[in-house]
Amino acid sequence: MDPEKFLIIAHRGASVQAPEHTMAAYRLAKELEADYLEVDVQMSKDEVLVSIHDLTVDRTTDGSGVVADMMLSELKQLDAGSWFNRKYPDMAKEEYVGQKIPTLQEIIEEFGESVNYYIETKKPEENEGVEDELFELLGQYNLLDESLPEGKVVIQSFSEESLKRMRTFSQTIPLIKLEKDPVVGPDARRRLEEIREYAIGIGTYFERIDDDYVKTAKEVGLLVHLYTVNSAEIAEKWKAVGAHGIFTDNIPGTRI
Ligand code: G3P
Ligand code: CA
Repeated sequence: MDPEKFLIIAHRGASVQAPEHTMAAYRLAKELEADYLEVDVQMSKDEVLVSIHDLTVDRTTDGSGVVADMMLSELKQLDAGSWFNRKYPDMAKEEYVGQKIPTLQEIIEEFGESVNYYIETKKPEENEGVEDELFELLGQYNLLDESLPEGKVVIQSFSEESLKRMRTFSQTIPLIKLEKDPVVGPDARRRLEEIREYAIGIGTYFERIDDDYVKTAKEVGLLVHLYTVNSAEIAEKWKAVGAHGIFTDNIPGTRI
């Protein structure tokens, strides 16, 4: 979380080159030297944290149904990679066929402390208790230890309530408030000051802000991470404005 370093956050893994939220996408993101692996987490019906973006499995697997209504054993039967080969034949690889929805535990077991994690509690209002499960898992793998480099694990959410709950679990873990509709203009400072009370930064759409927004956020003392930036030109622009990093699907394409 060094404010001087412009962070490359692998959005859903290396998700241009590999099926999002799979081990293949995370392995590639590590290989491509992303600063962070971004992982959206939800809970299965039997309360296991799984890595998937949508509330249903329909788009990114060969199954259908609501993640929260499915047992881990059901989720594990799905193929989370073949859709990618069909949709992006230029990027298709045989190894993507049969990729599984990983649990967060599997991701942590594979990468341990060798990577940094940028974890999102996805729709926590529909995943009651997700924060408790997350902190229990992080604690189990010693990822909350004060001896680790600062920012080894960053937590993000669109939900203020979820972030505030996690702040009660840890006074030090970096929390990022995701803003879908950032308040720009004269009210920006007031809104950003509210966020600063519990978070150290914001994540927001680069298309919905302006240079002044970044300047004000920095004055308030917030980090600014922008999504989803998939070109070097846009990355360069926002780096020059003073943003602290980008979420990108395309790590090689945004190298600056
Ligand atoms: O976490 C940043 C960005 O990922 C938020 O949007 O919908 O891609 O999770 P989404
Ligand atoms: Ca996300």
